[in-house]
Amino acid sequence: MTDTRKKTAVLISGRGSNMEALIRASKAPDYPAKIVLVISDNPDAGGLGTARGEGIPARAISRKSYGSKHAHEQAIHDALEEFGVEIVCLAGFMRLLTGEFLEPWDGRIINIHPSLLPKHKGLDTHARAIEAGDSVHGCSVHHVTAGMDEGPVICQAEVPILPDDTADTLAAKVLVEEHRIYPLALEKIARSIQD
Ligand code: GRF
Repeated sequence: MTDTRKKTAVLISGRGSNMEALIRASKAPDYPAKIVLVISDNPDAGGLGTARGEGIPARAISRKSYGSKHAHEQAIHDALEEFGVEIVCLAGFMRLLTGEFLEPWDGRIINIHPSLLPKHKGLDTHARAIEAGDSVHGCSVHHVTAGMDEGPVICQAEVPILPDDTADTLAAKVLVEEHRIYPLALEKIARSIQD
């Protein structure tokens, strides 16, 4: 029988807990995506070992090994092509990708961000949500465009901010929701792509 699951790569920079959530979800027999490659720009990313432990090819493609941002992005693109990747999931990948890189992946590259976009783009989102006096916070999966955390939102989950929350307690609660919604978003994208 032909394997119709969409070949998916996950790009990480660190621990890779969202990557793990995607790998776990993809083990369900009717899940429409298969994780075929993990790439990290950081050779020390814990997620690389986790992926290899799952039998998934995992490559470190460090910016330092390339003379320019263009050459680094080309190396990432080449690896994606080599594995026949159809969908790219950014999961804690700490680099901004250029429009030139993104263009061929339009509609097929998504990211998870720990805030209710368009609120709190960028870093330190949990502390900023508390400082802003927000009563709810959460996470978003969105299409990736050249603007940071700016692409159209695919799905979101909310978490209430309680009076005794700190950035750390809030991050932990949001992470649970990240792990729940990222597989749902990938499933939606994979089902929407025509063969
Ligand atoms: C997550 O909070 C994600 O939303 C953000 O970076 C963090 C990565 O965590 N973009 P992990 O590497 O998936 O554990």
